[in-house]
Amino acid sequence: MKVIRKVKEMQEVSDRLRREGKKIGFVPTMGYLHEGHLSLMRKAKESCNSIVVSIFVNPTQFGPGEDFERYPRDEEGDRAKLEAEGVDFLFIPEREEMYLPGYQTHVEVGEVSKGLCGDFRPGHFRGVATVVTKLFNIVKPHLAVFGEKDYQQLLVIKRMVKDLNLDIEIILGILIREEDGIAMSSRNAYLSPENREKGLMLSRSLVKGRISFESGERRASVLCKTVKDSLESVAGISVQYVEVRDAETLEKIEAVDRPAVIALAAIVGGVRLIDNIIVGR
Ligand code: PAJ
Repeated sequence: MKVIRKVKEMQEVSDRLRREGKKIGFVPTMGYLHEGHLSLMRKAKESCNSIVVSIFVNPTQFGPGEDFERYPRDEEGDRAKLEAEGVDFLFIPEREEMYLPGYQTHVEVGEVSKGLCGDFRPGHFRGVATVVTKLFNIVKPHLAVFGEKDYQQLLVIKRMVKDLNLDIEIILGILIREEDGIAMSSRNAYLSPENREKGLMLSRSLVKGRISFESGERRASVLCKTVKDSLESVAGISVQYVEVRDAETLEKIEAVDRPAVIALAAIVGGVRLIDNIIVGR
């Protein structure tokens, strides 16, 4: 696996790969890789013969007081995992080159960025859309894979690609969980054993919502309440939102008469966790 740190070099490599007729599959990440990330690389490999992964903890998607400074980093460990996965190129840009002095251009996606995490992390999706656009222009992939773990992010990127006529196929990777059900996340590393146990309640509550749906409940408000009550039955979990939305558009719905996502965010021991489950698909 070749490690590339310079924007120009990455662009030249991608140009060469394209001239050679390679199909470039791209997985952008912020590192501290786990099985959820690696599953996206395997997904890219199914249809691409040159795989590029980026690791960049993007400062513009973190708000003031969020965890940018302490976001977990382990370049050596990540490299070993990517080597084992057969990734061809690892792009690790420098912050100074990604955001040159005087930087003043941003990509802002409309409605789909609002609500849910958008309400609790102002500017977050603008930072994500901007950095992903930049990475797309540097890596020049044919295809890019994003995980369903960050459901709203996935839809923001899809909308952006459509709206800006980007010639990149966006593929989704299913949400990968630990054996006990908790959604894999780099941020799980912040959890003490006690809070890790509480964090389990996110997926357990969503499963309660799904069971209610499967036994015939279709009212979004009732499904939300089931999930929320279950979460709030445990001390030390502070719910930011529980919502049922159209799985395609993220529009609010009153009844689940089409595929829907039940999405939630909660703070557990000072750590912000998100999770979601799709029903009716
Ligand atoms: P990061 O949180 O590192 O996630 C990178 C990719 O891995 C995202 O597409 C995310 O949805 C996916 N992912 C994370 N946990 C997953 C899980 N348990 N199962 C499946 N996929 C999972 O998301 C970002 O980085 C950044 O916002 C980024 C897109 C790189 C832009 O900076």
